[in-house]
Amino acid sequence: MTQAILVTGGAGFIGSNFVPYFCRKYPQYYVVNLDKLTYAGNLDNVRECIGLPNYEFIQGDICDADLLTELFYRYDLRGVIHFAAESHVDNSITGPKVFVSTNIEGTFNLLAAAYEHWMNGPHQVKPGYEHCRFHHISTDEVYGSLGPEGFFTETTPYAPNSPYSASKASSDLMVRAYFHTYGLNVTTSNCSNNYGPKQHREKLIPKTIERCLNEQPIPIYGNGLNVRDWLYVGDHCRAIDQIFHQGRAGETYNVGGRNEQNNLNLVQTICTMLDRMYPRANGHTYAELITYVSDRPGHDLRYAIDPSKIERELGWRAQVALQEGLTSTIHWYLASHKQY
Ligand SMILES: NC(=O)c1ccc[n+]([C@@H]2O[C@H](COP(=O)([O-])OP(=O)(O)OC[C@H]3O[C@@H](n4cnc5c(N)ncnc54)[C@H](O)[C@@H]3O)[C@@H](O)[C@H]2O)c1
Repeated sequence: MTQAILVTGGAGFIGSNFVPYFCRKYPQYYVVNLDKLTYAGNLDNVRECIGLPNYEFIQGDICDADLLTELFYRYDLRGVIHFAAESHVDNSITGPKVFVSTNIEGTFNLLAAAYEHWMNGPHQVKPGYEHCRFHHISTDEVYGSLGPEGFFTETTPYAPNSPYSASKASSDLMVRAYFHTYGLNVTTSNCSNNYGPKQHREKLIPKTIERCLNEQPIPIYGNGLNVRDWLYVGDHCRAIDQIFHQGRAGETYNVGGRNEQNNLNLVQTICTMLDRMYPRANGHTYAELITYVSDRPGHDLRYAIDPSKIERELGWRAQVALQEGLTSTIHWYLASHKQY
C-alpha cells in the first residue's frame, strides 16, 4: 500500500540529495516535498524527480500551521523527515530572528500537526497509525565546542554557542518532549558537516571551489585551525534512511565520518586537487588565493562526532573517503560552473 511521507526542506542541499535517493529506493512511498524556497532552496536541485510517479513538490512554509494541518489531512501523511531549517551560522549572527521562527516554531508546528493526525491523546496512537514516525535532522553544533581531545556522544550535554546551534538545540528538545510527554514516535540525528553536490555557495567547500574558478580570494576565518568532521552527503542520506526505518523510537543518533580536518588543510586539499583537475591559466597554484579574514564571533574550535552508536545498532558506516567525495563534489561544481 502506498504511504505518503512528508519531506521538509527537500530543495536544499541535503534534502535534495535525499529526495531522489528515497523516491527511487521506495516506490511504495509517495514523497511530498514541502519547501518554502528561501534563498537556500533551489528547484533545479530536484529536477531529476520531475516525472517520478511518487513525487510531488509543494511550495510552503513550515511556520504556516494551517497549511501543515491541511497537508496531513489531504495526503494522510504517515511519516515526516524534517530537513527544513535556516542553516548558515553567519546568517544567524547577522539576523537570528528567522532562525527562531523556522527552526524552533516551524519544528513545533510539524510536531503538533503530526501529533494531531496520528494520535488521540498522550501515548494513545490512533489505530492504523502505529508505525508513523517523525525523523528530525539536526547538527553536532548543539554540543558546543571541543578542545583538542574527545568526541561528542549522544549523552554529551548540549552547549550551543551560536544562534543557529541554539535554535537547532531548542528544536531537538521539543522533539524530545513530544516523545516523553505524548509518546510521539520520533527519532533525531545529529550530524557533522556535510559536503557534496548541490550545496549552497555560501558554505566553505562550494565557496572555496567557486572562488578558485573565479580567480577570487578564498577567505579563511582566523588562523584556519578550527576543526570539523566532514561527511559525504550520500552517507548522511543512507544514515537518515536507516534511522527512519530501523532506529529506536525516542533515540538520537550521532552521524559522522571519523574524518576531522582543520579548515586550512581542507581548503589547501581542494586547491591542490583543482590544480590538477582545472589548472590555472597562469600556472600558479590556487592556494595563492587563500586570504585570512577576521574570525567569526563565537567560532567553535573543534567538533568531532563519535558515531559508534549508529555503527553498532544499525550497522551504518561512512563509506565515501574524503578524496573520493571531494573529487565528485569538484566535478559537480565544475560542470555547473561551465553552464554559467
Ligand atoms: N549542511 C550541513 O553540513 C548540516 C550538518 C548537520 C545538520 N544539518 C541540518 O540538515 C538540515 C538541512 O541542511 P541543509 O544544509 O540541506 O540546509 P539548506 O540551507 O541547504 O536547505 C534548507 C532548505 O529548507 C528550506 N526552508 C527554509 N526555511 C523554510 C521554511 N520556513 N519552510 C519550509 N522550508 C524552508 C529552504 O528553502 C531550503 O531548501 C538542516 O536542518 C540542518 O540544520 C546540516
